[in-house]
Amino acid sequence: MREFRTVGVVGLGTMGAGIVEVFARNGLRVLAAEVDAEAVERGRVHLETSTARAVGRGKLTQEAADELIGRITTTTSLADLAEADLVVEAVPEHLDLKAQVLGELDRVCRPDVILASNTSSLSVTELAVRTGRPGKVVGMHFFNPAPVQKLVELVRTVVTEPDVIEDARAFAASLDKVPVVIGDRAGFIANALLFGYLNHAARMYEARYATREDLDAAMRYGCGYPMGPLALLDLIGLDTSYEILDTMYRQSRNPLHAPAPILKQMTTAGLLGRKSGRGFYTYAKPHSSEVV
Ligand code: 3HC
Repeated sequence: MREFRTVGVVGLGTMGAGIVEVFARNGLRVLAAEVDAEAVERGRVHLETSTARAVGRGKLTQEAADELIGRITTTTSLADLAEADLVVEAVPEHLDLKAQVLGELDRVCRPDVILASNTSSLSVTELAVRTGRPGKVVGMHFFNPAPVQKLVELVRTVVTEPDVIEDARAFAASLDKVPVVIGDRAGFIANALLFGYLNHAARMYEARYATREDLDAAMRYGCGYPMGPLALLDLIGLDTSYEILDTMYRQSRNPLHAPAPILKQMTTAGLLGRKSGRGFYTYAKPHSSEVV
């Protein structure tokens, strides 16, 4: 079995920064890449906010938080990921961008290194064949917030080598996550089931069927969900949610997944949810969970 001591992450947005935190919390050395210094800085702020919250709640000592941050090396060059034993890309959900990143990682990383994509709905097969090592490319899909949600979906394609999936499964389990293995179909398991529901909630809101508070309260207090669908769309990001639905709809033509027009409109208007400070709800500041 492969040993994973140093891991790479490309992209330090909401998911990428969360994945970096998961790795660093588990004692791994992390090489984290972003496109420019500004994006690296945004990722750092995300990580520091998240670890400070854990310190504030007494879940982590300040010393452990400092050590965690100390295990992370940031860079703006993918060439600096050459030492990684496994790399996860978590760049925005566009096929060409992800394929370009994986292609570059393929040139930089050792030939036995597993290249994983955190894609939520794109075809892992299409990404895999854009590298020179399709058998070593897998989907490794984390859930938001990555440090909290236990699930990791591992996506195997028709060419994934069996030992690669087994090593990825053991790796995910070593992070105290619950891995599930599935084939390559848009939305995998969780998003394929979840997003029809979220989309339906957006449509009900759009039709002024109920207030946002009542829609969310119904699912929290009637069905025991940890948060209501509109609050969850804000957490995931409206742009990401639109992209996921659009990709699933284009693949399956299932009307459940035809994106509610309001999702596109809010995305165009920059109302992206928590990350921009406003979505269905308004937040005290970008990335915060405090509703005002
Ligand atoms: N980053 C790190 N940790 C976080 C966090 C964040 N953004 N938000 C909350 N936490 C931690 C808190 O520190 C706390 O940790 P502790 O128990 O160790 O002290 C714990 O989570 C609980 O937080 P809170 O008490 O502040 O709040 P809640 O109990 O209301 O939980 C929640 C917040 C974890 C977000 C919960 O509401 C939840 O699980 N919501 C559902 C989220 C969900 O469905 N995610 C999946 C989305 S789909 C997806 O990601 C797929 C992708 O492809 C789009």
